[in-house]
Amino acid sequence: MSSLRKFMPAILLLVGVTAGCRIDMHMQPYYRTMSKSDFFVDNRSARLPVEGTVARGDLHEDTYFYTGKIGNAPGDSMPFPATNEVLARGRERFNINCTPCHGRVGDGSGFIPSRGFRRPPSYHIERLRKVPIGYFFDVMTNGFGVMPEYGTQVSARDRWCIAAYIRALQLSQNAGSGDIPSGQKVPSPAPEFRDIGNGATLPVKPPIVEAPDSKEEPK
Ligand code: HEC
Repeated sequence: MSSLRKFMPAILLLVGVTAGCRIDMHMQPYYRTMSKSDFFVDNRSARLPVEGTVARGDLHEDTYFYTGKIGNAPGDSMPFPATNEVLARGRERFNINCTPCHGRVGDGSGFIPSRGFRRPPSYHIERLRKVPIGYFFDVMTNGFGVMPEYGTQVSARDRWCIAAYIRALQLSQNAGSGDIPSGQKVPSPAPEFRDIGNGATLPVKPPIVEAPDSKEEPK
């Protein structure tokens, strides 16, 4: 006990001296952004990611889904079923992204070409009716001629939805009487449009036929 008392001042001094020095994780060697380093042979402190590193969400393992191609050739199948919901989504995305140039029915008479931009070909020409569906996906992904690419603005899934909808448009413009399911009548003649295909078309209103008793004031 007495020896402890003898050392007490020394112990207290030691505690007092070391208490203010917590350097554990506060002080670490680090580089300021873009600063030079003598440690690496290229003198750069910023290192490249290890080869083969893939950012989260960027692993595009399903090549067909992201390119529409099998090898170098465009494929002719949807990577997921073309349900009603997929077609509805495709119609919505098509009307937003593509109609300004391609027109609502895809005949190429959008508003932008009417102001001098190159007029795109109609989707209903023989050549484009025969291309595999993956071709549309590829044109959207990478652009085509003067047409810009849409790969950065429209997600891969939406591009497939649009491709499916283009196929539906093609069917709609080339349907014959044989395509009508048996027992079903074509409901009415197709509506007429003002400024057909300029992307902002309105159906021509059917003429208002006045019923004989329509002169009466509504009660
Ligand atoms: C800014 C106008 C513009 C927009 C928007 C646009 N395109 Fe095009 N597109 C064109 C033009 C112009 C061409 C013809 C390009 C050429 O021949 O240089 C074309 C060509 C095409 C072709 C035919 C390629 C071929 O083989 O002839 C397809 C398919 C196509 N576009 C799909 C789309 C789809 C799908 C969208 C919407 C995601 C879209 N485009 C949006 C202007 C546009």
